[in-house]
Amino acid sequence: MLIKIKKNWFASENDVTSESAYLNRRSFMRGAAGVAGATGLIGMGLGSSAVAAGKKRDLVPLNFSKTSYDPGESLTPEDAVTQYNNYYEFGTGKSDPSQNAWQLQPKPWSIQVDGMVDKPATYAFEDLVDMKTLEERIYRLRCVEAWSMIIPWIGVPMAAILEKVGVQSGAKYVAFETLADEKQMPGVKPSFFGGSVLDWPYKEGLTLPEAMNPLAFMAVGLYGKEIPNQNGAPLRLVVPWKYGYKSIKSIVRITLTDRQPPTSWNQSAPREYGFYSNVNPTRNHPRWSQAKERRIGEFGRRTTAMFNGYGDEVAHLYAGLDLNVNH
Ligand code: MTE
Repeated sequence: MLIKIKKNWFASENDVTSESAYLNRRSFMRGAAGVAGATGLIGMGLGSSAVAAGKKRDLVPLNFSKTSYDPGESLTPEDAVTQYNNYYEFGTGKSDPSQNAWQLQPKPWSIQVDGMVDKPATYAFEDLVDMKTLEERIYRLRCVEAWSMIIPWIGVPMAAILEKVGVQSGAKYVAFETLADEKQMPGVKPSFFGGSVLDWPYKEGLTLPEAMNPLAFMAVGLYGKEIPNQNGAPLRLVVPWKYGYKSIKSIVRITLTDRQPPTSWNQSAPREYGFYSNVNPTRNHPRWSQAKERRIGEFGRRTTAMFNGYGDEVAHLYAGLDLNVNH
């Protein structure tokens, strides 16, 4: 029997009331109110798969140019970036995505672009992302669960994609959807009791000025190679001044709209998760403080910065907005 010793980034999982434990309880309650003794069943069963070993995809090295986007902090080790994940379509445990996401088929991939755009179409991945103009950006990632990482992403500015499809005047928001395929994603299957953690597909959204902000990035790689499935292959959003859940993975649909789009976490728990979701150390999550964070791989805690330290680039987007109310 293979005994796995957990790496130190798994050590203090009880930093906050674990969101997945909470959600397991919630979805259990939604799906199976009254059945005693079964709490937590949803998360189990997905977590311990040993099948993943040997089924990992070979990740092709990418050509990219370096940029000055670099906070100058130590990078989070690659194996932490790729083994400590949130990707609920593959399970709610932190190691579930790296164990289960080999089932995702990111090639070929197409993305439906619709709504208020000049060139609505179902685009092949290669037609939407110009692989000749890839750049590397090192960004902080701050999860709403109060942990953080420093990740060297590779990709293209979100604005480059929007320019390609042509945004029509009147569009105010960009909506995104993740693939939701039960055959590839074990977490999308209804549980034994009929409950589900989130309503699939996973949905996210930005205002158009946020999506056009130079920091908004569409990542197709990390650590010099194609992006692993568990991190959102083949393309995922990265909005580093917002909590990590805004950075939606494995995107299959982009819609330009004049209405604020529904977003998964806001729909699931509106009191806890807003639309804007900017990193804000002064507004606590109802169940834990957001003032500090645990940098994965480090002991102790760091102070969380407003807008995750990107205020110079993005604070102007929220002039006149009360971020404690419009959270
Ligand atoms: N996108 C989808 N489709 N499903 C998810 O569960 N989790 C979000 C975000 N994007 C999630 C998602 C959360 S909560 C975080 S913190 C980041 O992905 C984590 O990204 P990482 O696993 O690459 O670090």
